[in-house]
Amino acid sequence: MLPGKVEHVLLTSEQIIERVDELGRQIRKDHPNAELTCICLLKGSSMFFCDLMRAIGSPMRMEFMRAASYGNSTTSSGSVKILTDLDADIEGHEVVIVEDIVDTGRTLDKVIDLLKGRNPKSLQVVSLLNKPSRRVVEVPIDYVGFEIDDHFVVGYGLDYDDYYRELPYVGILNLEG
Ligand code: IMP
Repeated sequence: MLPGKVEHVLLTSEQIIERVDELGRQIRKDHPNAELTCICLLKGSSMFFCDLMRAIGSPMRMEFMRAASYGNSTTSSGSVKILTDLDADIEGHEVVIVEDIVDTGRTLDKVIDLLKGRNPKSLQVVSLLNKPSRRVVEVPIDYVGFEIDDHFVVGYGLDYDDYYRELPYVGILNLEG
């Protein structure tokens, strides 16, 4: 049974597409001659990643990484583990990490730390969503799609218990519903 119910659409598909397009154009403009290595943080950023890569539209490498932060279903704990690592060497490359949402900041903090140790030429972060009120660890985010209040949201790749990723919009989940 589907857990909970989407009680409110926070970002429509049209709003997301428009913003992702802007982010893509901005990233391309900021890296005019670079061959970027873009890293998709699975699974949440998968839908955002595909749309953003098309919006950037310049030659690039696409890489995939999976980090799990342990906690309960709606909040992460301090313990973050890398489950799937990159295939490519990023030393000397211009790297962009693509994240779905920055909440406490713990996952991104760990990923940035790990990747910095591999000596990329530059390391930037783009996140579709940012929940600044929930931050526990300060992390640098170079490009943000939307700042949101403290809601648990699903859709456009974001899940609750692996459900709701396929929704084309981002909605607030009511677990009581
Ligand atoms: P953080 O380590 O607390 O910043 O959490 C990062 C990860 O937790 C994100 O990449 C998401 O996978 C997940 N997460 C945090 N907030 C939400 C939410 O509102 N909806 C769905 N997933 C979330």
